[in-house]
Amino acid sequence: MELASESPVLWAFYVRIVVMNKLYQKTKAWVEKIYFNADHLIRTAYWIRELTPKPSEALLIAALTHDIERVFKEGRKPSVSKMRKWDDQKENQWHSERSAKFVKDFLKKENTKTDLIEEVLRLINHHEEGGWDEADLLRDADSLSFLEINVPFFISRIPKELSKKEVKEKFNYMFMRIGSKKAREIAKPFYKKAMFDLNKVEG
Ligand SMILES: [Fe+2]
Ligand SMILES: [Fe+2]
Repeated sequence: MELASESPVLWAFYVRIVVMNKLYQKTKAWVEKIYFNADHLIRTAYWIRELTPKPSEALLIAALTHDIERVFKEGRKPSVSKMRKWDDQKENQWHSERSAKFVKDFLKKENTKTDLIEEVLRLINHHEEGGWDEADLLRDADSLSFLEINVPFFISRIPKELSKKEVKEKFNYMFMRIGSKKAREIAKPFYKKAMFDLNKVEG
């Protein structure tokens, strides 16, 4: 068997894996430190790995950070508006671009290569709607992690912040936007449980 130290190709591959993992771990530590719902982001990265065998570094970093703007309260619009529509393109674009801005600052501080930063930001900018294979994967993994992790939080916001109808629409939106058959099959039990738990709530 060829040792990595004897083959420049294997050595380059090994170095790339180590560097990749280092940035991933640093990003994960950053997110865990600042975001109360880091679990949702970490599970999004987990579902990316379940949905595709060899995810790119950009895709994993985007999964780990795509909602990070929620941490930074200054300049945030009211998170819930009356007549809110969950698929509102303008609202989603605002949220995505704001997350991308904070992620850009973080990655620059970590001396990340420009082309990697740009790819991460492009994915974050499209994480709600997808648009090409990798962005679709991110959207689907985000939905899976949402239905797995965020359901109790959304139900807890009834009736003060959200109506039962609005939460039901959110759960439907997150499930229905899933594009891949595999992700939809995985999501089904989470979605059923979410609806079951929601139906127990008065309102
Ligand atoms: Fe989001
Ligand atoms: Fe998300």
